Amino acid sequence: MLNRMKMLSWPQIWIGCGSTKVQVSQILKYCNSRCLGVVPQGGNTGLVGGSVPVFDEVIVNLGSMNKVISFDEVSGILVSEAGCILESLVNFLDNKGFIMPLDLGAKGSCQIGGNVSTNAGGLRLLRYGSLHANVLGLEAVLANGDVLDMLGTLRKDNTGYDLKHLFIGSEGSLGIVTKVSILTPPKLSSVNVAFLACTDYLSCQKLFLEARRKLGEVLSAFEFLDEQAMDLALNHLEGVRNPLPTALHKFYVLIETTGSDEQSDKEKLEAFLVHSLEGGLISDGVVAQDIQQASSVWNIREGLPEALMKAGAVYKYDLSIPVEKIYDIVEEMRNKLGHSARVVAYGHLGDGNLHLNISCPQYDDAVLAQIEPFVYEWTSKNRGSISAEHGLGLMKAEKIFYSKSPAAVQLMASVKNLLDPNHILNPYKVLPQSLSFP
Ligand code: FAD
Ligand code: MLT
Ligand code: ZN
Repeated sequence: MLNRMKMLSWPQIWIGCGSTKVQVSQILKYCNSRCLGVVPQGGNTGLVGGSVPVFDEVIVNLGSMNKVISFDEVSGILVSEAGCILESLVNFLDNKGFIMPLDLGAKGSCQIGGNVSTNAGGLRLLRYGSLHANVLGLEAVLANGDVLDMLGTLRKDNTGYDLKHLFIGSEGSLGIVTKVSILTPPKLSSVNVAFLACTDYLSCQKLFLEARRKLGEVLSAFEFLDEQAMDLALNHLEGVRNPLPTALHKFYVLIETTGSDEQSDKEKLEAFLVHSLEGGLISDGVVAQDIQQASSVWNIREGLPEALMKAGAVYKYDLSIPVEKIYDIVEEMRNKLGHSARVVAYGHLGDGNLHLNISCPQYDDAVLAQIEPFVYEWTSKNRGSISAEHGLGLMKAEKIFYSKSPAAVQLMASVKNLLDPNHILNPYKVLPQSLSFP
């Protein structure tokens, strides 16, 4: 059993400038020997309560382990400490002519160690794949203080089990990630952003198929938001204006292309837009003419989590659903809730990832009882995932069985017992309470 410490405030350990894996190792060794719970913390931007203590766990924040260790300009492989903020890595790589294979609205605060530990998806997954594909290696400190060096920089290495994958997405429950090696793509010179309106969800879906066919390898993002999401952005985000101001449309799609031939990329996009307009898939649209216009369109999409927070209380669901069914649950939820709450939908349509948000003036148990377990049962029935990219953390740990079989969860518990027999790492998170203690 974990020892609960008698403390009035949470003990926080900031891994300070010049800190090393040795110090992380010493902290974990100490905590393990006394059965003290530890919460690994990155930028604290996680959306499922994974990075905050439940009782009196020691917080180990990696924020000051923020050095780039090496960058190989031939292979594009970046090795950095886990506490590097994603945006600083983006800026570092920009100078070298490369980009990070992931991008998300929280880039100004989240850390690469947190991204890896949550297997963050974000806005570029469609093009570059998940972190399971891009992380080539990592260093992690286990609960007993042992340092596991898996910091490979090879694209191919089939020697035995690929253990780094256990740490990608395990939300700090199996070890503290201290270093990461990641494959970064070259920065391409031609980026185009289009913001389009569709009259119904089926058109968004068909537009996605067309985009894959007609834009092919240059397609780098396909995001969607509905009318309620746009309305929220216009009302709650500073400096945001509607790029298609004539009317509020039912659906909006943001398409980004990234390629290396400006003229041919533009022609491809234009041909795709003309074809989609003539075929009735889009009812209106605009192509950003410069970087400022492109970023103001992105600001609408990336600002939605902030707009929701400003609007009041929000119940957030992050679902993977077959693309053709994504909007069914939104409509069913709206029918169920009537006027008692606002159902706001947006997400990474190209990845089959819906962000379903129920916004109300304040948290209300009666509203929650209408949403859950319905949302989980519906997702499970449709063979979706109840956490597409945010993880389970504290808030969804008990819901794991909606997406994973009892046998799979039992095996996860065995892995946890093997690597962290005293269950000091991120207690109460990821796995259900019934399996959480040895
Ligand atoms: P934290 O929030 O600090 O921690 C998250 C989890 O990882 C916790 O369980 C923590 O214990 C663990 N952890 C953190 N660092 C380490 C480490 N070094 N070793 C071991 N465990 C660790 N997520 C997406 O997937 N896609 C999005 O598009 C996206 N957009 C977002 C937009 C906004 C505005 C916000 C607020 C959040 C968004 N998120 C998104 C969620 C969040 O940003 C990601 O989950 C992010 O990867 C968390 O990184 P972090 O450094 O803030 O981690
Ligand atoms: C996003 O895509 O904006 C994030 O995952 C955050 C959210 O779901 O609100
Ligand atoms: Zn997202």
